[in-house]
Amino acid sequence: MSFVEVRETRARMNRSELAVPGSQPRFFEKALKSAADVVFLDLEDSVAVDQKAQARRNIIEVLNDLDWSGKTVSVRINGLDTPYMYRDVVDVVERAGQALDLIMIPKVGKASDVYALDMLVTQIEQAMGHSRGIGFELIIETALGMQNLPEIAAASQRIESLHFGVADYAASTRARTTGIGGANRDYAMLTDADENRNRSWHWNDMWHYASSRIVVTARANGLRPIDGPFGDFSDAQGFAAAAGRAASLGFEGKWAIHPSQIALANTAMSPTEAELAQARRILEAMKAAEREGRGAATLDGKLIDYASIRQAQAMIDKVDSSA
Ligand code: GLV
Ligand code: MG
Repeated sequence: MSFVEVRETRARMNRSELAVPGSQPRFFEKALKSAADVVFLDLEDSVAVDQKAQARRNIIEVLNDLDWSGKTVSVRINGLDTPYMYRDVVDVVERAGQALDLIMIPKVGKASDVYALDMLVTQIEQAMGHSRGIGFELIIETALGMQNLPEIAAASQRIESLHFGVADYAASTRARTTGIGGANRDYAMLTDADENRNRSWHWNDMWHYASSRIVVTARANGLRPIDGPFGDFSDAQGFAAAAGRAASLGFEGKWAIHPSQIALANTAMSPTEAELAQARRILEAMKAAEREGRGAATLDGKLIDYASIRQAQAMIDKVDSSA
């Protein structure tokens, strides 16, 4: 290990994160009672411009009127480039900050965006005598944000997680796709012809670089990497594939833009019994190797060593922390 110790953020279950438009109060109580680990009440892109002020009032009301103590709750504010953001923060934190766990900041482009919000939230919490210490979730969804990611991730002690906002990221990078997340048949490799002149077409994951960069930066800063939306909520199989791919890379959770995606995200982001059993076998085999004075062993014809212990232990710790 490096001499530098990575400080882990506050631990929270974040396998699924349900998005709820602030302009649709009829969904609030259902969201609270759902199996989502985190609920975010939205003031940004799911709310029409003429509904912004009412959505803000709805959110303040529901944070105060319902008991959110058993659920992690977040509010997505509008971007720093809009005329709504300051009032989102001032009104919501002043009037409902004691009930709020997290603020989700969209389209973060520079570390100074986070610094500015930290200053504002700190002043409000101090002025109001709030002791909660609201955390930040940052959506990385612009080319600028992706470029400046390492500085952004280290910009405030309030940051808990980095989220991949695939829809805005596609718009910002001018990617040629109109879906939200998921596959793109044009991002593919055509193989050379084989001896029978057959060629095949292999779809690739066009979000791989962005996803990977978010996972690496989050982990290097002790933060949770969370995968963003999958738009086609009628495609459970597609969602499960996207969530499984994200989990394989190291993401800890995924958004649900529809209640039907909550269980799929919770399942994809939890190790399976078979994976856990294998992790336990690895730990056992390594213990036996150590007793015999060896730092490496063979299990099922494959090499395992101290790195395998860390992989296996990380998987088991994840489950223990969610028990
Ligand atoms: C989320 O905000 C996204 O743009 O994907
Ligand atoms: Mg977005």
